[in-house]
Amino acid sequence: MKAIICPQYGPAEVLQLEEVAKPIPKSSQILVKIVATTVNSGDARVRSLHVKGFMKVIMRLVLGISKPRQPILGTTFSGIVETVGDNVSKFKVGDKVFGMTGFKFGTHAEYIAVNQHSHVLEMPKNATYEEAAAIIFGGHTAIYFLEKAKIAEKPSKKILIIGATGSVGIAAIQIAKHHHADITAVCSSNGQKLVGELGVSSIILYDKEDFTKRAEKFDIIFDAVGKFNRKKCAALLNENGVYESVNKYASETIQQLELLKELFEKGAFKATIDKTFKMAEIIEAHRYVDEGRKKGNVVLKIGG
Ligand SMILES: NC(=O)c1ccc[n+]([C@@H]2O[C@H](COP(=O)([O-])OP(=O)(O)OC[C@H]3O[C@@H](n4cnc5c(N)ncnc54)[C@H](OP(=O)(O)O)[C@@H]3O)[C@@H](O)[C@H]2O)c1
Repeated sequence: MKAIICPQYGPAEVLQLEEVAKPIPKSSQILVKIVATTVNSGDARVRSLHVKGFMKVIMRLVLGISKPRQPILGTTFSGIVETVGDNVSKFKVGDKVFGMTGFKFGTHAEYIAVNQHSHVLEMPKNATYEEAAAIIFGGHTAIYFLEKAKIAEKPSKKILIIGATGSVGIAAIQIAKHHHADITAVCSSNGQKLVGELGVSSIILYDKEDFTKRAEKFDIIFDAVGKFNRKKCAALLNENGVYESVNKYASETIQQLELLKELFEKGAFKATIDKTFKMAEIIEAHRYVDEGRKKGNVVLKIGG
């Protein structure tokens, strides 16, 4: 099968499209023919190892000391079940599925074998493969941090979402809306139209105004772009206010994927796709994600 290999840490140019062995599913696994995946900020970070100080040491320990231990990157997928192992009861051949492999990576390839009880579900009925792949990465992260901020239990839900146009920020707006929050979004003038279409109470354009100087108070501040810190935002928090940032570790659960599926099927969560690339355009796709300016998600069409 074709796969994108990352043989070493470095710039986008290290990536190579190669022919590798097709995985053979074990008895509890399904073999998914991948139709779409994403190139997200996490993939770019793993490839480049662009992190500061001690984090670089941690990342090398987790991902591989001198090169990625798993050379096929990519964590999200949508596709069709091609074969099932002898012990598989949850899925059948032909099912349309979507899911996440997390630190196992491996989705920038034509096939992936995953355990039937791992992070995989039938796709939302109304989603295209591209949409299904695009809602996963930012969706999980947004749900994780907003649940950590206990958004559901907060009697007052005035929330400030900083970095509202990234994959995580766009998802956070939609998850906060699901919780009936009163949302103020921080984005650039370039992102104003997109954020306006998502429907928020207020938009602050960071290239025109320093939002940290506002007199308003918020119950939750979520830095979805990781460029701020609690100290910078402290004056904006009300007495019991909670600050969360993507700079902390987030973990994914199947419940998060179930919620994304449910919301997508209800029309309450939309996939924002900025650009779509083919496998052969992987270097271009990574270069674009490296810029840190994408609006929502970059989809990688497999087989195209
Ligand atoms: N903790 C975790 O497990 C976890 C999981 C996922 C992501 N993350 C981290 O979360 C961050 C965001 O991820 P992502 O995938 O959403 O990134 P992304 O999609 O690449 O974010 C890009 C967006 O950020 C906006 N932006 C850039 N600088 C900004 C600023 N100073 N203020 C407000 N908006 C700004 C850009 O819009 P403009 O160019 O128009 O400003 C662009 O739309 C990354 O650092 C990523 O590593 C962490």
